[in-house]
Amino acid sequence: MNLVTTFTFLLLLSLNQILADEKVRYDNFQVYRLTPRSQKAVQALRELEENGYDFWTSVRGVNQPVDVMVPPHYKHRFNDFIRLNEFDAQIYIPDVQKLIDNERPQTRKSVGLEWTDYHTLDEINDWLKDLASTNDNIELVTAGKTYEGRDILGVKVSFKAGNENRTVFIESNIHAREWISSAVTTWMLNEILTSKDSEVRQVAESHDWYFVPVFNPDGFVYTHTTDRLWRKTRVPYSSCYGADPNRNWDYHFNDGGASPSPCSETYCGPKAFSEPTTKSLSEFITTIAPKLQAYIAFHSYSQLLLLPYGYTSKHLENYQELYDVGVKAATSLAKRYGTKYEVGNIVDVLYVASGGSMDWVKGTFGTRITYTYELRDTGRYGFVLPPDQIIPTAEETFDSLVTILQEFDKS
Ligand SMILES: *[C@@H]1O[C@H](CO)[C@@H](O)[C@H](O)[C@H]1NC(C)=O
Ligand SMILES: [Zn+2]
Repeated sequence: MNLVTTFTFLLLLSLNQILADEKVRYDNFQVYRLTPRSQKAVQALRELEENGYDFWTSVRGVNQPVDVMVPPHYKHRFNDFIRLNEFDAQIYIPDVQKLIDNERPQTRKSVGLEWTDYHTLDEINDWLKDLASTNDNIELVTAGKTYEGRDILGVKVSFKAGNENRTVFIESNIHAREWISSAVTTWMLNEILTSKDSEVRQVAESHDWYFVPVFNPDGFVYTHTTDRLWRKTRVPYSSCYGADPNRNWDYHFNDGGASPSPCSETYCGPKAFSEPTTKSLSEFITTIAPKLQAYIAFHSYSQLLLLPYGYTSKHLENYQELYDVGVKAATSLAKRYGTKYEVGNIVDVLYVASGGSMDWVKGTFGTRITYTYELRDTGRYGFVLPPDQIIPTAEETFDSLVTILQEFDKS
């Protein structure tokens, strides 16, 4: 190497170091709520979605609001875009970085989980291991392995023999940035173990449970170390990292509402189960599938209780009973804090989205109870829900989960 190339090499090396160490910042990034008032405006939004803007919710149709994050250096371009098309536009989040700063975990006072803060993967896994080692009813399970070599940990909870065919599987944080989802499911796990409420005890002890709080550990770690708003896996593809792990399951794979482009937030991956994370999770779920009574997935945000399927608007299998119980669940969810949920199948309420885990479970095994929650809120904080909302969100969500299982146990 001559002097110049050596210098360039060192410069690149140190740049890489900076890039590797530094957290992505979202100073003055704004989240707009846009409501398209014409088909042309909807089309313009779809084109924008392909152009690298981060859509926090997906484009649905005329008069259906959508949340999109706008970087400060795009602001003028974006304002032109709004003016050229027929939209109602509001700024919902004036500065995304401010929300992220407010959410920053406090210094921990004690070991174990507290639901006044969000936790790292290590903290969650240590808690799971501790539960399993100190409690006869709990077994630590490895439910899969990620691209970066992490174990995907969960627990099996069983209070007594004879519940095996009434197994409830709880999934969360398949989308890395949806931190509230694993905060809620770990709180619910704790409640199942410790609640003294008689109705909760009845539901808890008459089922076997699997909790796998972080379905996408590589992405989740990345949201803590580097980019709070990361969604996908961390598998490197040609031009971008990661596939959407909830578009990668082998049931109607890439059959609408998924993108073939590696840089898209909804990239389905080069083929079904291309991601080691989803492939190994699917193998684990297959081993317990005959026992599953319920499969319930947790996402954020939008306050929706969703039923299969995501690939078709047809109301298949036990749509009606899932819908009827879903409405009762939404009623009990609203009781505590008045939080309103909409209930319906994915395509009716949201949009076509194929290759999701719930579709795969339902379509492959015919599991009777299948729901996907989109938790709080409706966009004021979006993915960056303040930690003081963790417990209220968990309480109301658990109320509705208890209702679901009670209702199905009646029939
Ligand atoms: C669970 O279901 C399997 C298969 O149908 C059956 O063989 C087993 O006896 C059931 N277990 C209980 C406890 O009912
Ligand atoms: Zn999600």
